[in-house]
Amino acid sequence: MPESKERAPRNRTITLNSEEQVKYKNRLLRLNMPIELQDVINRTIHQDLLQVLDYLPKQSVDLLFIDPPYNLNKTFNSNNFKKKNLDTYADWLDAYLDKLEAVLKPTSSIYICSDWQSSPAVYAAIKNRFQVRNRITWERDKGRGASKNWKNSSEDIWFCTVSDTYTFNVDAVKLKRKVIAPYTVDGTPKDWDITDKGNYRLTHPSNLWTDLTIPFWSMPENTDHPTQKPEKLVAKVILASSNFGDVIFDPFLGSGTTSVVAKKLGRKYFGVELDEMYACLAEKRLEIAEAELSIQGYAEGVFWERNTLNEQVRSIDKKRNSQHDKTLHQQDLFLLAEM
Ligand SMILES: C[S@@+](CC[C@H](N)C(=O)[O-])C[C@H]1O[C@@H](n2cnc3c(N)ncnc32)[C@H](O)[C@@H]1O
Repeated sequence: MPESKERAPRNRTITLNSEEQVKYKNRLLRLNMPIELQDVINRTIHQDLLQVLDYLPKQSVDLLFIDPPYNLNKTFNSNNFKKKNLDTYADWLDAYLDKLEAVLKPTSSIYICSDWQSSPAVYAAIKNRFQVRNRITWERDKGRGASKNWKNSSEDIWFCTVSDTYTFNVDAVKLKRKVIAPYTVDGTPKDWDITDKGNYRLTHPSNLWTDLTIPFWSMPENTDHPTQKPEKLVAKVILASSNFGDVIFDPFLGSGTTSVVAKKLGRKYFGVELDEMYACLAEKRLEIAEAELSIQGYAEGVFWERNTLNEQVRSIDKKRNSQHDKTLHQQDLFLLAEM
């Protein structure tokens, strides 16, 4: 349904008017026979995933990012997901994984998102299929508290690989953190840097992510999709588990976050989405990404803690004004333009 809601002037939510709905709909792909990789690259397929799985190019994908409907009653614009018992949910996921396996290479990585309730079913569906390497938990600080339970503020992402040969670029996903206890040896900082905005340390990424913000109305990546993932979350996955030019596939694409981040980071991508409006929003976001490469929370090639936008910009500004400006990442220039 095209845009009809009134929004506050500073609301940056990406929406579609009726002309855009027509324009982006014309870019969507529908499959009714097997397709070559080159014909699906950088495209959004608007179809039921089960209808297209047999047609996708075999052994074509380096990184598979799966963000399925969780086992909850949820409306995704034109389609509803109905909560099932956990075993039925595991079987439901298993049916997709059975077919998705064909697109993977022996070196591929797979990430599967879930909430705490769906997480055991995801594990049941993957444990005998892939090499399960980790379960990331990320802080999802949004939503109301519960009066008779702990407020749910976390989600999981299972990390698997097909074999023991896989990409993991740990240096690409380091986190820039304020130093709380500045330890020195002979007066020299031990593994941290003094800057005029404070003391910072680059830390190894753990499987507990607390630096993410769920997209909301004043963020330029926000859409009306009810379960949109932060671009920063997907950027961590893509930078760690793929290389420049690799192919990334998201079979439950939603508002297009995976494709958009893949494009911003120089990867190839394709995705499948059942709902036409979300598929069109994905296309609009991809168009915006042609001129806007920044990813909120990722600057100078590192991930910053939440609420450090001013420090990020000052740091980039300083670099730009010095002779080292060749080290600026293209994303940084767009961050500056945003301010
Ligand atoms: C959890 S959301 C994905 C959100 C996405 N990661 C984002 O950032 O916007 C799951 C999506 O899967 C879509 N979906 C559900 N069943 C599907 C199916 N059978 N084939 C393709 N897409 C489906 C829903 O419409 C929904 O947009």
